[in-house]
Amino acid sequence: MWYRGYVGRGAAPEILLNGLHRLEYRGYDSAGIAVLHGGNLQVCRAVGKVKNLEAKALGSDGLPRDAHTGIAHTRWATHGSPTEANAHPHCDDHAVFACVHNGIIENHQHLREQLRRKGHTFHSETDTEVIPHLIAEFYNGDFLAAAAAALRQLQGAFGVALLCRHHPDQIVAARKGSPIVLGVGNGESIVASDVAAVLGHTNNVIFLDDGDLALVTPGDVSIRNLDNVPITRDVSRIDWTLESVEKGGFDHFMLKEIHDQPESLRNALRGRLDADQGTAILSGMNMTPHDLVDIDRIVIAACGTSLHAGMVGEHLFEDLAGIVTEVEQAAEFRYRNPILSSRTLAIAISQSGETADTLAALREAKMKGSQVLAICNVVSSTIAREAGRGVYLHAGPEISVASTKAFTSQVVILLLMALKFARTRRMPRQTGVELVEELRRLPDQVARVLDRAPEIERIARKWAAARDFFYIGRGYLHPVALEGALKLKEISYIHAEGYHAAELKHGPIALLDEDVPVVTLANDIDGKDKMLSNIQECRARHAPVILTATEGDTDVAGFTEDVIRIPRTHQCLTPVTTTVALQLFAYYVARERGCPIDQPRNLAKSVTVE
Ligand code: G6P
Repeated sequence: MWYRGYVGRGAAPEILLNGLHRLEYRGYDSAGIAVLHGGNLQVCRAVGKVKNLEAKALGSDGLPRDAHTGIAHTRWATHGSPTEANAHPHCDDHAVFACVHNGIIENHQHLREQLRRKGHTFHSETDTEVIPHLIAEFYNGDFLAAAAAALRQLQGAFGVALLCRHHPDQIVAARKGSPIVLGVGNGESIVASDVAAVLGHTNNVIFLDDGDLALVTPGDVSIRNLDNVPITRDVSRIDWTLESVEKGGFDHFMLKEIHDQPESLRNALRGRLDADQGTAILSGMNMTPHDLVDIDRIVIAACGTSLHAGMVGEHLFEDLAGIVTEVEQAAEFRYRNPILSSRTLAIAISQSGETADTLAALREAKMKGSQVLAICNVVSSTIAREAGRGVYLHAGPEISVASTKAFTSQVVILLLMALKFARTRRMPRQTGVELVEELRRLPDQVARVLDRAPEIERIARKWAAARDFFYIGRGYLHPVALEGALKLKEISYIHAEGYHAAELKHGPIALLDEDVPVVTLANDIDGKDKMLSNIQECRARHAPVILTATEGDTDVAGFTEDVIRIPRTHQCLTPVTTTVALQLFAYYVARERGCPIDQPRNLAKSVTVE
């Protein structure tokens, strides 16, 4: 997930290890380093903390300390569990080439099969390992040409840094969809997956564009495209502090993660849409069409934000696939003696994959003989392992305690699952094709919501002094009202309650007055007319109203000046777009109140006790 290469006069192992230490807080599960020395390529890898790697790399059987060229990587597992064999760098059979890689190679299975038939042996479960093998296949003395030929074969996303033992003063780097920054210093050069890894050595950097291939030597860089056409890229001077760079230039991890969402959603969707058949490709579910048809009930168990994603899932499975679905607080699931059968599918949703109650619910479902699946972000986490099958979010590490990008990816994965069930059971192809098309557009629509941040900030600052908030929604936006209220209370400490809009009259309305704003999710979806009546009810009690509304919808005009516009989508996607707006709203309220946004009081990122 993070890497760096060094070529120069300095001691590469030490320089690279220092770099790994500096970015340790980002989360990773294994690390590795490869250096060139005396015509050999030497690799050292370890599971767990960088200090484990350091002990090995600098120990008596470790790497030559005076090596001057090397690459290093910290891995956050996506394909295959966090083991030493899966840690980067990866090599070919004869240890001529080493590779570190970020991104996802979508056609790695196919390439692996081809290479196997040609006699290559693979030692890891990663998609990355095909890259050095493929380069070896094309190599006839020209490192750069072989790298270009290999990279042209890859589908998906990559940022790579490569070594070749016959070229001791070179690193080859290439980018397609995954960032690469080159640092050009005095007699030394750095290749890195982000700017933070370059600072400290030099402030002169070159950002590669998609399709660029760079030959990096001490103090010099030459760039071309994969077809060998030379390209010139400007050198920029970066004056950011290391701290601001680590947060991607944002003030908090939460804000960075909110802004990560177009990309994290692209990663959730990558390789999983079948536009022709109008369905989803989710091989991790490991279910045949017969298995899918055989399921007669779905039970979802989760906690916190993941529970809210599960509630959206309940709508999706019932609405799209026509399967009876229940969603349950995971702690309750276990103690309520749930009724399960072999035709029940229990889905555990957990960002961390370690939440104790969700794990207990999964075990209970397994014990009662039902089928189980997990939706997790952390690869090889306990829930992912014990479920044995499921779908990963590929959202990247979520550092802020308040969950943001995990939620939107969970909803998208649930939608993909519902689509797969639906197409196997009752949904016509054309409807599926249209939904796939909508899903494809979703990351850009989320980006459009993010573009509205200044307007959302204005509204948030206006109401940041309130003591209480209500959030109301219906249908697909009922869980979003709960999630919006949860975000606000988590990080701003304002008392906020999410309700189904119809429940307002059954109690909460007694609390409304001019000091209690109501965030009303009045997007143009089923039930909007009733939401318009609910807005009137709030206004009649003098409660200030903040609206989310679909772009171009004039029915909501005149109620309030505090309107957050959301792009028009199929209603089943409104939980994603609308939640992003509410995340920003909560963030700006908390910031206005001076709260410690990334580490709210009393909260933990992962709750591992029941
Ligand atoms: C904690 C976190 C929440 C999270 C919940 C479930 O309470 O603070 O943000 O939604 O746990 O976590 P999980 O990792 O299972 O999704």
